[in-house]
Amino acid sequence: MSTPQIPGYTYGTPAVAQAPVSEEDFELLKKTVLFTDEDERYLRMAGEVLADQVEEILDLWYNFVGSHPHLVYYFSGPDGQPLADYLEAVRKRFGQWILDTCTRPYDRDWLNYQYEIGLRHHRAKKNQTDGVSSVPHIPLRYLVAFIYPITATIRPFLEKKGHSPEDVDKMHQAWFKSLVMQVALWSIPYAKEGDW
Ligand code: HEM
Repeated sequence: MSTPQIPGYTYGTPAVAQAPVSEEDFELLKKTVLFTDEDERYLRMAGEVLADQVEEILDLWYNFVGSHPHLVYYFSGPDGQPLADYLEAVRKRFGQWILDTCTRPYDRDWLNYQYEIGLRHHRAKKNQTDGVSSVPHIPLRYLVAFIYPITATIRPFLEKKGHSPEDVDKMHQAWFKSLVMQVALWSIPYAKEGDW
């Protein structure tokens, strides 16, 4: 797969941290969210449906974040104002993430990048990728809570290409499972040693 040139997007490169997750742990996590081969197939379908809607989806999510001061705060600089360059840099990687969620094989590179995304929300690595001076850390509770809006708001986009209600439902369920699994992986740096 060709990777577009997105600043700070290091997927599959040696710059990405190694996820401290064994194959067995990952298989058990998939089983726990009932993630199957069928979900993989429906994520591929979702990828085709969403590919040309990425900018619209990002507009909606960015409006959501932008209209909640307690969320846009995590993109703010020392003067308390949102850092436009930071928002824009993250937006490009966020767009790529939509496609990655749907089209990438969930292999070791994917697992490692999930760990990397977790680190980038945590004080371990937030702000470093874009070299910004922003709030140092995003609380875990907001990562977990964000699963709902990111899942609820994707459905109308999945409905837009004339798929049957059953197919839309299966794409939506697969997306939801993937998100829960990803945020579970992103929580690694937030857990005390031995608690994850
Ligand atoms: C389900 C929950 C969430 C999803 C799916 C998500 C998705 C993403 C993605 C894909 C990136 C870019 C990763 C990369 O560098 O390649 C990112 C970065 C970022 N997200 Fe989130 N995010 C979530 C929760 C949140 C919340 C609640 C906030 C708080 C407002 C937030 C603020 C940020 C910030 C500030 C960055 C940049 C971090 C850095 O400095 O590298 N995210 N997010």
